[in-house]
Amino acid sequence: MRVDVVTIFPSFFDVLEVSLLGKARGAGLLDVRVHDLRDYTTDRHRTVDDTPYGGGAGMVMKPEPWGLALDAIVADAGDRPTFIFPSPAGERFSQSTARELSEASHLVFGCGRYEGIDERVFTYAATLGDVRLMSLGDYVLNGGEVASMAMIEAIGRLIPGVVGNPESLVEESHEDGLLEYPSYTKPASWRGHDVPDVLLSGHHGRVAEWRHAQRVERTRERRPDLLPADDSEA
Ligand code: ADE
Repeated sequence: MRVDVVTIFPSFFDVLEVSLLGKARGAGLLDVRVHDLRDYTTDRHRTVDDTPYGGGAGMVMKPEPWGLALDAIVADAGDRPTFIFPSPAGERFSQSTARELSEASHLVFGCGRYEGIDERVFTYAATLGDVRLMSLGDYVLNGGEVASMAMIEAIGRLIPGVVGNPESLVEESHEDGLLEYPSYTKPASWRGHDVPDVLLSGHHGRVAEWRHAQRVERTRERRPDLLPADDSEA
């Protein structure tokens, strides 16, 4: 998968070199290219923002550098990518969105700062490919960088070959609507806290039953919104 990121803070993305995604990049499964939006400005001050029409607080990102940056990426790749603009005003990003996007061949993340990006950038991007405004959740970050990083990790780890053991993806939280069961490792007793007996029993059927019950109970307690309405009473 090719991933382009447009940002005024390219160094935010240095951490993509490390860990699992760094390995995926090394193995050629993930081709991430980070672009500095200021390289697409045409004035001496490398200006990327301006005051909002209609007044109001804050600054808005100017459309011209965005147009040039997106044009350059599309000309280089020669395709119709999916553009993702992180925004608290976007549709909610979820595990199923991550799964859907992990099948794309080319994603372009546009990281907004300030009060946002001139709306015409989204309209223009829609002439070059698909456009998705995506929110990580109902809170406000300072810009799209951290949100893009989270989405790149959530999407990247679903690309076949990136996570060594694909079975570890199956029983995760959010894959089937239930939260993950609790995990334990040795020692069986630690600071007076014991591993549940059933996990030491060697009885696979009972272990599976217990884990399922734990998933349902946790989901009821912590995330009743994930359960069907008639099932959410504790
Ligand atoms: N940018 C600022 N806040 C955000 C959020 N909650 N999700 C995605 N992008 C954002």
